[in-house]
Amino acid sequence: MVIRLVLFGAPGAGKGTQAVLLEKHFGALHISTGDLFRKAMKEKAALGDQVRSYMDAGYLVPDEIVMNLVHQELVDVIKDNGFIFDGFPRTVPQAEAFSQILAKMNQSLTAVISLEVEQGLLVRRISGRRVCPKCAALYHVDTLINKEICPIDHSTLEQRKDDAEDAVETRLKTFALQTLPLKEYYQEKNLLLQIDGSGSPDAVFARILSRLQPVFN
Ligand code: AP5
Ligand code: MG
Repeated sequence: MVIRLVLFGAPGAGKGTQAVLLEKHFGALHISTGDLFRKAMKEKAALGDQVRSYMDAGYLVPDEIVMNLVHQELVDVIKDNGFIFDGFPRTVPQAEAFSQILAKMNQSLTAVISLEVEQGLLVRRISGRRVCPKCAALYHVDTLINKEICPIDHSTLEQRKDDAEDAVETRLKTFALQTLPLKEYYQEKNLLLQIDGSGSPDAVFARILSRLQPVFN
């Protein structure tokens, strides 16, 4: 069975961390709209200029820009592959547009995994996050021996610009206002799996797999 997942959760909930584990386990593509926008900013592509001011301040990129990206770059990619969307959809209009895309391809979502993490822990995770600019590996300073160097390729680790305190506050508020309503949207469609996102990455991953098991049977 081809797996088609959406990973849903607040900033710092662990979407990126779990997506990497799910990608390896299921052989499905990990697609993060946030990563695609960050890449466009780094490569100084036109798309990067369009999204920079929203992202750096912690606001959502307008739906129209997000859906253009999905139509232009992602529809072909997901047509014949399993996928794990991380950070998309993020508003009800995005979810509705996505559902139409899937219907046109005769596809449907396997599940929407909502990672539930309390706010204090979200902030602790975000403030300690480090990212490798070369291989994109994600770390938390608490688990790094050398806090500045990527253990995989020895690049100097970076902090995301939107992990600054002001932007984090805006991201958390934006999540509550614009993204949280999606939970009800997917609950009504019987797709939502709410998972406790606290504990180690492996513990959270085991919870996800055990909740997904009945969906496959
Ligand atoms: P995006 O990149 O999606 O960021 P986000 O939703 O704010 O989420 P994060 O990436 O901060 O957190 P995460 O849940 O992936 O956590 P992670 O695994 O890294 O979006 C960024 C911006 O892009 C948005 O603000 C918006 O402007 C724009 N954008 C993107 N998509 C959009 C869309 N569809 N529509 C509109 N705008 C869009 O973990 C965090 C830290 O915790 C790491 O250090 C990690 O090592 C650690 N950690 C994770 N899990 C655990 C664990 N279980 N135990 C201990 N530490 C853990
Ligand atoms: Mg992420």
